[in-house]
Amino acid sequence: RQYSDFFLTTRENLPHLIKKRGKYSHKGTFGHALLVAGSYGRMGAAMLSARACLRSGVGLLTAYVPRCGYQVLQTGAPETMVLTDPDDEVLTSIPDARQYSAIGVGPGIGTDERTYYAFQMLLSNFSAPMVLDADALNLLAQYPELMKMLPENTILTPHPREFQRLAGKTANSLEAIGVARDLAEKYKIIFCLKGAHTAVVLPDRRVYFNPTGNPGMATGGTGDVLTGIIVALLAQGYAPDIAARLGVFKHGEAGDRAAAIRSEAAVIASDLIENLRWGK
Ligand code: APR
Ligand code: MG
Repeated sequence: RQYSDFFLTTRENLPHLIKKRGKYSHKGTFGHALLVAGSYGRMGAAMLSARACLRSGVGLLTAYVPRCGYQVLQTGAPETMVLTDPDDEVLTSIPDARQYSAIGVGPGIGTDERTYYAFQMLLSNFSAPMVLDADALNLLAQYPELMKMLPENTILTPHPREFQRLAGKTANSLEAIGVARDLAEKYKIIFCLKGAHTAVVLPDRRVYFNPTGNPGMATGGTGDVLTGIIVALLAQGYAPDIAARLGVFKHGEAGDRAAAIRSEAAVIASDLIENLRWGK
């Protein structure tokens, strides 16, 4: 009975969910995403997430980064509006909560104590749809009391080590999925357990396995790309479960296109962004 809730996302049942862009739509139609990312020496993570978000249909993107990221993002991702933290190297504060239709937090932020305070402040001030990745997950693992502050349907995208820090050690990935189902139900959140077949675990305990992707994606920064894709979908108003499943699927598909063009070993995270396609 337990396993009757396991599904495979397929080419047939997912791409038709991609919304058509209406002729009279404008950038306001597609939402305003906020990306909270980066620290000194980790601004590439913010850049990859920002560029992936911009390539995934978002109307507007604002990035909130430490001051050292200002020039980097303004030149590397000029479509992004950039707000800076008072600190030069790490995040210590948060921007105004108004106007954002979705928020992505975590790529490259580090786990400085001041960043923990900023993250806690963010969770108390923002209720928009949210995706949490990387160091945001490591902060959750370090300060478990934050779990209760997550808005309903928040998407968490841990790789196996991040999930282990969050949920403790498990014997194998099937056991990890079981633990994720309990946590998803308890906190009403969504997990994308990343790996060769990423499992999207929903609050009602359903599990969707993803069929796209390849070992060429086992390279630094591909996870940051996924965060950008998912926050763009949330900003456009996709329901969180669809944003998670569709985002993971298209991320893997972009990786498959990149590998077909360049070979698996030659793929870098930026290639995924260049190979995103949102047609049917
Ligand atoms: N087959 C298919 N997909 C794969 C495979 C594989 N063999 N290996 C990895 N992937 C995909 C995963 O599903 C995931 O979407 O590549 C992505 C890797 O994501 P992360 O593990 O988060 O990698 P990365 O982006 O480099 O993380 C950047 O943030 O999470 C922290 O500690 C991490 O410092 C690192 C940084
Ligand atoms: Mg990562």
